Amino acid sequence: MNYLITGAAGFIGSAIARQILEREGANTCVTIDNLSTGLRENIPDGCRFIYGNTYDKNVLKQLDDEHFDAIIHIAGQSSGEISFDDPVYDLQTNTQSTIMLLKYALRTRCKKFIYASSMSVYGDHNPPIVDENTETVPKSFYAVGKLASENYMRIYSEYGIACTALRFFNVYGIGQNMANLRQGMASIFLAQAIKDRHILVKGSKDRFRDFVYIDDVVNAVIKALDRDSGFEVYNVCTGVPQTVEKVIETIQSNLKYPVTVEYTKGTPGDQFGIYGNNSKIHSQLGWNPKVGFDDGIKKMIDWALNN
Ligand SMILES: NC(=O)c1ccc[n+]([C@@H]2O[C@H](COP(=O)([O-])OP(=O)(O)OC[C@H]3O[C@@H](n4cnc5c(N)ncnc54)[C@H](O)[C@@H]3O)[C@@H](O)[C@H]2O)c1
Repeated sequence: MNYLITGAAGFIGSAIARQILEREGANTCVTIDNLSTGLRENIPDGCRFIYGNTYDKNVLKQLDDEHFDAIIHIAGQSSGEISFDDPVYDLQTNTQSTIMLLKYALRTRCKKFIYASSMSVYGDHNPPIVDENTETVPKSFYAVGKLASENYMRIYSEYGIACTALRFFNVYGIGQNMANLRQGMASIFLAQAIKDRHILVKGSKDRFRDFVYIDDVVNAVIKALDRDSGFEVYNVCTGVPQTVEKVIETIQSNLKYPVTVEYTKGTPGDQFGIYGNNSKIHSQLGWNPKVGFDDGIKKMIDWALNN
């Protein structure tokens, strides 16, 4: 099987590419990455690297003679905050790239397309538990772009491409970029705690997130590869909310030195909190999260301290 996995220099894309290459059978893999937030050394050995933007037609043209069994589109910028700095770049990198890759899939007869969507498409809700039928009310340009990508996929699926949008909740774990302080709540807090012994929190301590461990996310992508027609969206989440305060206390209690905490005003478009119902992905794809937050964050802290 031959896979195109975009963004394999990043946290989630590299973990997926590693798993795909390790699976039984003769898998090959190509990645496109612009190294904007990813690192060249994250791309696993055996994965062919094309440097460039996923929204650049000249980059995709280089692959016109290839055939992929599936495209796993993970590349993108993953911060709501950043989408307010430059909404046009966010649209290009997160939505135009999806359209270009769907067009590419159609012209090269690729039949499966899996996409890294986001829980941000829901916005805030009361009660805060969301399933795939919950209304989508995006609060950031980032979330608008993710939802638009899903809708392009829905329409492209009518041309015979099995399209799966995985709405990742807060992904965390080993391999997350600890140098990027604008992306990833767990990695931002942990990086600050280790480097500065001080955590600056943008927003309330009562906000909450549904943290899903990287290995479980990779497994959801692998399960989604079994789908072979139509369009579906799935929540990829644990169904267990963790408050900001709990995340910080867990980090503090796992470090051997005191870490101070300071609160400042929130960022635009930040959700107060939702958590997900995962019964659809469980019943249709047989996926369950295996790593609970306390275990996952401990693994991540051990890894961060040793690296
Ligand atoms: N991390 C999370 O909690 C989370 C949650 C929901 C959705 N997502 C989505 O998952 C995807 C991966 O997130 P991540 O946490 O691994 O981020 P990451 O920054 O570690 O990885 C993204 C990768 O994509 C590359 N990239 C960005 N724009 C590109 C472009 N236009 N062309 C080519 N390469 C490009 C980056 O260089 C990087 O290697 C993103 O699309 C993000 O929106 C992430």
